[in-house]
Amino acid sequence: MVHRPRRLRRSAGVRNLVRETHLTAHDFVLPLFVSEKLTARKPITSMPGVFQFALAEVADESQRAFDLGLQAVLLFGIPRQKDEQASGAHAEDGIVQQAVRAIKSKCPELVVMTDVCLCEYMSHGHCGVTRIDGEHFHVLNDESVELLAKTALSHAAAGADFVAPSDMMDGRVRAIRETLDENGFDQVGIMSYAAKFASAFYGPFREAAESPPQFGDRRSYQMDTANAREALREVALDLEEGADIVLVKPALPYLDIVWRVRERFGKPTAVYCVSGEFAMVKAGVEKGCFEERAAVLEIMTSLKRAGADLIITYWAKELAAWTRP
Ligand code: PBG
Repeated sequence: MVHRPRRLRRSAGVRNLVRETHLTAHDFVLPLFVSEKLTARKPITSMPGVFQFALAEVADESQRAFDLGLQAVLLFGIPRQKDEQASGAHAEDGIVQQAVRAIKSKCPELVVMTDVCLCEYMSHGHCGVTRIDGEHFHVLNDESVELLAKTALSHAAAGADFVAPSDMMDGRVRAIRETLDENGFDQVGIMSYAAKFASAFYGPFREAAESPPQFGDRRSYQMDTANAREALREVALDLEEGADIVLVKPALPYLDIVWRVRERFGKPTAVYCVSGEFAMVKAGVEKGCFEERAAVLEIMTSLKRAGADLIITYWAKELAAWTRP
């Protein structure tokens, strides 16, 4: 007798039993913006429901995230002052360093990850040290890497569990790994933004982090959307240099990259569902095009199905509630 192929979907129980991908609060990392200029939280207009927090609030917000079941946050800092050396990025009492200490003393079990980049701290808004020659500007790779390693070290000294370099300079993972090891922080991990594409979807983040480039753009150091093999080479390099988690960013337009990175390297693979992806769904919801929860769960399930072990998302708190068994 020949069996007719069947789909098992008789009931929710049966569907659940044969489902290949399950979401839990542990899949998600919540990005938090903390500003040295604020005394109370301030909404980010292009990202409904997302805030910049004051230093005094960030530990409470982190505790709330932990109580909801999340296990990690990713911190971004907005300094009071910017300059050409990104001094605020590596200052011992910089905003991120203070925030890490505050969170760790209130909620020691929460995994604290810190974005390591210079753009929020540079008066020109680029991710590294720049030199301008007439019409052209250059990002000076090695000078930038030195500042990035210094920044990562100061985050580790404040108590960060993971540093997440998002700048895309060459050799920064190795430099950070060596600096951390030499200073006794061999237990601090590196989540590298290994495949970071030059994307239109970072738009709202530049308001959130107050870091729009004042001239030029980031295409000289972020990757071309058209290149998948290059993304794999970047990931291979970062892993060789000592990355513990590799990150693909943005998320939805790059599922093929997530899939290939996870398949090829088998290392913990994270994906960043970025500000523009968030704003896009929010806009659709506002127009009545679809229901938020269904849309977001579909996106997150797709990211995980494509191979993401970790998803950085502005919906992390909602997702902790929506995925509760
Ligand atoms: C750079 C950085 C950016 C994001 C995270 N880290 C912006 C950029 O590269 O322009 C974007 C995150 C988002 O859009 O949500 N420090």
